[in-house]
Amino acid sequence: MNTLTILGIETSCDETAAAVVRGLPPGPGEILSNIVFSQAHAHAPYGGVVPEIASRAHLEILDGIVERALAEAQLSLSDIDAVAATAGPGLIGGVMVGLTTAKALALGAGKPLVAVNHLAGHALTARLTDGVIFPFLLLLVSGGHCQLLAVSGPDEFRLYGGTLDDAAGEAFDKTAKLLGLPYPGGPNVEARALLGNAKRYALPRPLLGRPTSEGHDMDFSFSGLKTAVRQLKETASLNVDDACASFQAAVIDILCDRVANACVRFRKDFPKLETPALVIAGGVAANRAIGTALRELARRQNFAIRIPPVRLCTDNAAMIAWAGLERFAAGAADPFAIGPRARWPLDGSGRGDGDQAQQAG
Ligand code: KG4
Ligand code: ZN
Repeated sequence: MNTLTILGIETSCDETAAAVVRGLPPGPGEILSNIVFSQAHAHAPYGGVVPEIASRAHLEILDGIVERALAEAQLSLSDIDAVAATAGPGLIGGVMVGLTTAKALALGAGKPLVAVNHLAGHALTARLTDGVIFPFLLLLVSGGHCQLLAVSGPDEFRLYGGTLDDAAGEAFDKTAKLLGLPYPGGPNVEARALLGNAKRYALPRPLLGRPTSEGHDMDFSFSGLKTAVRQLKETASLNVDDACASFQAAVIDILCDRVANACVRFRKDFPKLETPALVIAGGVAANRAIGTALRELARRQNFAIRIPPVRLCTDNAAMIAWAGLERFAAGAADPFAIGPRARWPLDGSGRGDGDQAQQAG
């Protein structure tokens, strides 16, 4: 098969993005362009993403972002094999803008349309960057999602565990807000944690070392931790650096405990693999302390860890173009009648966190 060249569009949260990617499964692929316009500054005053502001901003700038992506790749639409766009999950207004634009471009140029699950975009990024082969174990940690999955194909996901309440990134964002740090919270909490003492405040680690009441030992829970941070805030003379460090240490313990259980389960499900890949995806994968802890865990479990570079961990369109490329290479294209979906669980079971990105408030 000849290499495929795909235009990707991402508008499910507060990044307006377009990219052109070339390659063939299993990767690695070539990123010909990757334009990301962050609206973070527009949402920062509200401490979270405001859906109406997001969809209006997508609508205003997406055409220009797509033009730039094509120009930087030195291609025109006629050189593209298919147009891929995020069709969910996410903020419905934004997804609608991206998907409708993709349909118009595809229809005008006589090209196929490929609808992409945003989470599949995160999940498959390590194939774009490293050519990681199926099956692999995936920890997907973003603002709206916190899941452990076995990934066996571009459309084949087995959910091991999800979050019972907040996503990991959401916990970072809410903690930042409670502590008076600017949005988005993750990078700010990480920066302040570097200056602080992680042992200063004893924060809870919900579910650590034990299963949920349903017996799941790969599920996450962060709301108890958030409540503890809120109570901490009442403390006079609270040291924000120490609070950030203590919070981040608790998140690391929770993540490592659940991932260790998932490593054991993955080995049972795929006994023939000697050194399976553990892929970390989603915005929280940008956190260096979390990366270091998971690297050490992978070494102990004899898994080969893969963490894509930061700019491909957070929301972008190269991952959407690549996920579209994988589906298209497998023979998939979608009818123009396909609609946007606010919720769209990866494994179809409906279990796990189907949450959309966090909203203001
Ligand atoms: O994947 P992403 O860009 O958007 C979603 O699909 O949700 O992830 C954004 C999330 C935010 O919650 C942000 O606070 C978090 O990723 N994040 C981080 C860091 N960088 C981004 N969390 C912890 N540490 C970071 N360095
Ligand atoms: Zn995302």
